[in-house]
Amino acid sequence: MKKAIVVYDTIYGNTEKVAKALASGMSEKGVQADSISVQKVDINRLKEYDLLAIGGPTHAFGISKPMKGFLEKLKKVEEVKGKKAFAFDTRMKIRIAGSAAKKIEKKLTKLRMNIVRSSSSAFVLGSEGPLEEGTEERFRQIAGEIANLI
Ligand SMILES: Cc1cc2nc3c(=O)[nH]c(=O)nc-3n(C[C@H](O)[C@H](O)[C@H](O)COP(=O)(O)O)c2cc1C
Repeated sequence: MKKAIVVYDTIYGNTEKVAKALASGMSEKGVQADSISVQKVDINRLKEYDLLAIGGPTHAFGISKPMKGFLEKLKKVEEVKGKKAFAFDTRMKIRIAGSAAKKIEKKLTKLRMNIVRSSSSAFVLGSEGPLEEGTEERFRQIAGEIANLI
């Protein structure tokens, strides 16, 4: 059975919901998928997974501090090279919002990970949420697409 892990950062729980939707969408397609926060993930166990989905809230037009810290640690994990990856974020639907996902994807590319699908954003209606209606369903569908690429 193929294995995937969704690593997320969150303050208000919105990105966690998106991470859980991704994991459940992959599980529905027969992938063993876990979701875990950046604070709890054990980077030494990432080598067990076929795909890493990595996402967080957009803070100051970019990547949140805890997620930056995690991505920095990932540099030391030789085994992530060549591993499949997907980046996502949550952000506001405003003209100049920035996107953490695009920046995360760039860093994963630098780590020589294999981006299987271009990054996606989930939108929150306010800084603390809620997620735009239908977001979790949309990410379950994206997860289904990703599951076929593992
Ligand atoms: C310190 C801070 C900075 C933020 N900066 C941005 C930003 O630059 N662009 C944006 O679209 N949203 C910004 N937001 C809103 C977050 O994207 C929003 O809180 C997040 O998507 C909610 O996800 P969470 O519930 O997982 O924390 C910011 C929020 C915080 C707390």
